[in-house]
Amino acid sequence: MEYSYLHLGEKADPDEYVICKYRITTNLPMEKAAESLAAEQSTGTWTGISTLEKDIFQKYGGKVIDINENLVEVAFPTDDFSIEVGGVPQILSIIAGNLFGLHSIDKIRLEDVSFPKAIRECFPGPKFGASGLRNILDRPERPLVGTIVKPKIGLSPKDTANYVYESGKGGLTNSKDDETLVDQNFCPIQDRTVAIAESLDRLESEGHKMVHAINISTSGHKILEIGEKVQSWGAKQIMVDVLTCGFAAVQALAEDRSIKVPIHVHRTMHGAMTRDPLHGIAMLPIAKLCRMCGGDALHVGTLGIGKMEGHRKSDKDNIDACFDPSVGYKEVMPVCSGGVYPGVVDKIIKAAGNNVQIQAGGGVAGHPGGVRKGAMGMSQAVDAVFSGIDLNEYAKTHDELRVALKMWGSK
Ligand code: 3PG
Repeated sequence: MEYSYLHLGEKADPDEYVICKYRITTNLPMEKAAESLAAEQSTGTWTGISTLEKDIFQKYGGKVIDINENLVEVAFPTDDFSIEVGGVPQILSIIAGNLFGLHSIDKIRLEDVSFPKAIRECFPGPKFGASGLRNILDRPERPLVGTIVKPKIGLSPKDTANYVYESGKGGLTNSKDDETLVDQNFCPIQDRTVAIAESLDRLESEGHKMVHAINISTSGHKILEIGEKVQSWGAKQIMVDVLTCGFAAVQALAEDRSIKVPIHVHRTMHGAMTRDPLHGIAMLPIAKLCRMCGGDALHVGTLGIGKMEGHRKSDKDNIDACFDPSVGYKEVMPVCSGGVYPGVVDKIIKAAGNNVQIQAGGGVAGHPGGVRKGAMGMSQAVDAVFSGIDLNEYAKTHDELRVALKMWGSK
């Protein structure tokens, strides 16, 4: 018996269905392609099956509720999901699973998703969120301004800690390990964490609060142990590469009561999913899942300005997802990172607002005066924009910013 998964024009209650928006490219009639997607991801397969009873189809079948040119909305009943045991891995295998490989669909991109309250309530959301991070740093209003220790790999724990100290002296509120650094021989995680904690304590005793995110990205069975260890060695923030570790790694850390520091979420590898405008997974659903799982700060792009592919509108949508009040979680601190330097800080803040963390690796370490002056250049750019002063005007009385603007210009 074959049933139709087309329910065009029907309304799906967002508190009873997970509703997904897909962009589909196909040579087939769109209705046929959409139906094959809804069938494959719920109760069907490539042919009719004798075991699909009508009541199973009615209860659990995905519904194609809207087709607008190449944008298709599919509503999956909440009962299709196994949240307690399956979690995000099972959610993804429905909303972003086999569908990417179906012959009937040449290209498909998951553009957006909304989750019913019953599902959202099963996830922790951020423990600290944007406001918790601001409280720790005692920085209520200005954008957070940070760095990524460069070079990405190769520095010793002592040199890494020195970099952090110098950036704090230059006024930065945040620093972090890069995504490829975890526990290599040249920079063991324990020695690095201890040395950085000393730098941060020294900065605090000198009147400056700063946090550094230690990258604890590792295998699933080790992440809680490593998270707890780095905390005991003095880490004030931890970092997880969410797409290589899995969303569940962030959730495990957020739900672990013994983890008492914020989680910085890096999205390395996202380009494999997000870059093709017609295929893959947009950053928006990834951002929503990161918030649900408990990320406190999340890389969201640089609004089309930095070194990574991105767009002003879609990156702003990611930022809005960090703050959307309707989902019931704490707000996430959006992080703009990747090819950032002082001359673009005004454009980023103009597009993103003040509730943002702006980070520069090369834009700090590449300053001709060294890390401290590079950090000063970034801090001065943020101060200028926050105070409504043009960067070039501010640079007339702030040498480090002037040198940075001269070196990299602006956009
Ligand atoms: C990141 O983690 O976002 C990148 O390593 C940024 O480095 P960059 O500021 O030198 O581009």
